[in-house]
Amino acid sequence: MTDNTEFLNMMKEIHDLLAPSLAEDWPELPVERAQGAYLYLADGRRILDFTSGIGVTNIGHNHPRVMEAARKQMEAMLHSAVGITIHQSLLELCHALIDVLPSGLDMFFFGNSGAEAVEGAIKMARYVTQRPGIIAFEGGFHGRTYGAASVTTVKAKYRDHYEPFVPGIYFAPYPYTYRCPFGTSPEAALEWTMYHIEKLFQHQILPHNVAAFLVEPVQGEGGYIVPPPDFLKALRQICDQHGILLILDEVQCGFGRTGQMFAAQTFGVKPDILAVAKSIASGFPLGATVASRDLMSQWKAGSHGTTFGGNPMSCAAGLATLQVMREENVLENCRQQGQRFLEGLQALQKKYSIIGEARGLGCMLAIEMIVPGSDKQPNPQAAMQTLNLCLDNGLLAYMAGTYGQVVRFIPPLIVSSTQIDEALAVLEKVLAQVSRR
Ligand SMILES: Cc1ncc(COP(=O)(O)O)c(C=O)c1O
Repeated sequence: MTDNTEFLNMMKEIHDLLAPSLAEDWPELPVERAQGAYLYLADGRRILDFTSGIGVTNIGHNHPRVMEAARKQMEAMLHSAVGITIHQSLLELCHALIDVLPSGLDMFFFGNSGAEAVEGAIKMARYVTQRPGIIAFEGGFHGRTYGAASVTTVKAKYRDHYEPFVPGIYFAPYPYTYRCPFGTSPEAALEWTMYHIEKLFQHQILPHNVAAFLVEPVQGEGGYIVPPPDFLKALRQICDQHGILLILDEVQCGFGRTGQMFAAQTFGVKPDILAVAKSIASGFPLGATVASRDLMSQWKAGSHGTTFGGNPMSCAAGLATLQVMREENVLENCRQQGQRFLEGLQALQKKYSIIGEARGLGCMLAIEMIVPGSDKQPNPQAAMQTLNLCLDNGLLAYMAGTYGQVVRFIPPLIVSSTQIDEALAVLEKVLAQVSRR
């Protein structure tokens, strides 16, 4: 686009055309094009994108191999309602996914988004177990459709005026070590969660009525909360004891974000059902509910379906994404750069008391902002100031946390050490300013 004024006016108009429900302090950047780790704006600015389109462009924006694969597929066939027609990209993607998924997960239902992947997981869990109960976790985010919103508790405003929700859903506290009322060691946080699960079983629902636990291995919208290392293993144990299914929502933390292909591998736990989406196809809409053949085969014909799920271009893009991840050593880079960034954030935390905690896994990193000198009082104002000032200095990061008190960084996994250092330098400058306010 050459006429920037026209583009900028269009952006203003869009504000009046789109549902206000979408708005949440977003910068609404007028992007002309995007490449790798950068966004190029209509006003000439170049922005280092540490949001990756909310965890989607893990191998960078517009990777040429993904573009080429999708283009080629588009020319051959644009749409396939899977079942009526089938296509090669779908078959190839299934095989490529089986190669990288936790072992034994080898059957797929493809949809178009994270919420659909979660819907599929919940529906399948109920269907195959013929049990009604789903236990999810406080502070979790699983999407905006009714089933997914019913298991979402990160912010009460996401639930406001939508009751009644899907019934049969129960909540336990997530082991949020930094804010656990029972003690701030990983052991105490784990004990706190297990205590509440036991209470649920005693007072509200017997284990034999529970179809599944649904959990984010690292809470995303909740504030990039890394649970104690044994949390998922403890859940796995309860599940095995009572015939309950373990659903991991890896919509945000999957596909390399935590340093392994899936967080299930990072934590050494095998889920019964996995929900994935976001970065699976580098920006083309695709999501999947994944399970073992044994389990998914019990989901009988006609009990769930889709028109667009597994569309040809998304599958071709997904396949190319996996090839890039393997051949360009993306996981190793994620671990290295993530470590570099985390160490930088921890150093900043020591220097600026406005940061309560610096945390994360792989390239899923955050700082939690507090009121200095308080007892960890959440500081959403400081988080917002930090985000705005970072943007003024060419770095795009994103908000998270129940109170909006967390600044999260979601760099592409192909990020370079120079870009990490650039981001840390911006942050250092910004935090000095925010701390003075
Ligand atoms: C963990 C998790 N699950 C589900 C979703 C919903 O995904 P989508 O917005 O593609 O429906 C998200 C989106 O942020 C997410 O982070």
